[in-house]
Amino acid sequence: MICLGIEGTAHTAGVGIVDGEGKVLANIIKMIGGEVKGIHPREAANHHVKNLPGMIDKALEEAGIAPEDLDLIAFSQGPGLGPCLRTAATAARATALSIGIPIVGVNHCVAHLEIGRVVTECEDPVLLYASGGNTQIIAFAGGRYRVFGETLDIGIGNLLDKFGREMGFEFPSGPEIEKLAKKGNELLDLPYSVKGMDVAFSGVLTAALQLRKKGASIEELCFSIQENCFGMLVEVTERAMAHVEKEEVLLGGGVVQNRRLQEMVEIMSKERGAKMFVPPGRLCVDNGAMIAWTGVLMHRNGVHFNIEDTKVNQRFRTDDVDVVWRR
Ligand code: ATP
Ligand code: FE2
Repeated sequence: MICLGIEGTAHTAGVGIVDGEGKVLANIIKMIGGEVKGIHPREAANHHVKNLPGMIDKALEEAGIAPEDLDLIAFSQGPGLGPCLRTAATAARATALSIGIPIVGVNHCVAHLEIGRVVTECEDPVLLYASGGNTQIIAFAGGRYRVFGETLDIGIGNLLDKFGREMGFEFPSGPEIEKLAKKGNELLDLPYSVKGMDVAFSGVLTAALQLRKKGASIEELCFSIQENCFGMLVEVTERAMAHVEKEEVLLGGGVVQNRRLQEMVEIMSKERGAKMFVPPGRLCVDNGAMIAWTGVLMHRNGVHFNIEDTKVNQRFRTDDVDVVWRR
């Protein structure tokens, strides 16, 4: 079984191809970048319109297969920005109909978890999913993937990018902040907002910008933002692990490429006798391979879509997915 997956929930267009064992045969990723301004849904959608057709050709070439060798098309059905989602869905419908093969719509958050499970060989992890738009702690319980904690306002990557934009860094700003944080060592006072199992980041942004106005150095601010916010994430992840009694933690989303975050999660897991799993970077960020692999799991377990079922769902919740493949 060979599946081509199309990702397009936000500013990344992705086309990936996987086989029935979860082996990644191609994984082409194109993110709008280089600009200092934020993400505009229609501009991102135009970026996907322009890039997706060529990316599909390139993915087939990289995998060394012809369109007729494909058995299934999967696409990111949600959650995400409407115009972006519709572009990916249209590309998926056109491809599936032209080859005459089935199509399935995939939940983006679940896909981050499933690609991690297949490439790292963890079995039943708690997922810390930290990206630009999303920040969630997800685990399998009672037949569904449940969200045990999440951000109450912006995603952690969004905080980093917004702070970076104010400092004049390139978009996305996570890597630059990580670099500068290594030069800081004084913990500045930022709000540590953990509410129950949830976290909030917009107050951190406001406080950091105020400190900057008062003369705090950029390096100390980068260091303090990381220590403070990653600490919040590690705290709720640990509590979720204790609550659901799981001994594995899986990382997903673009922000988990940060070595300091990985180090902090690693320390926490070691102390609990648990194990941490980190997929390769190109499978952590938004990508088509994760969509393709989740599509394989669904299709193989009897999930079938008619074209009418392929409408996108901007607010597609993680726990709306019937996880038939883990029954
Ligand atoms: P989603 O649609 O799932 O919310 P996304 O569109 O934000 O995802 P991702 O590719 O998962 O895309 O993540 C991008 C984010 O990762 C950006 O906010 C970026 O700043 C952040 N990031 C990338 N590298 C690092 C790093 N080394 N440290 C911290 N953050 C990073
Ligand atoms: Fe994502």
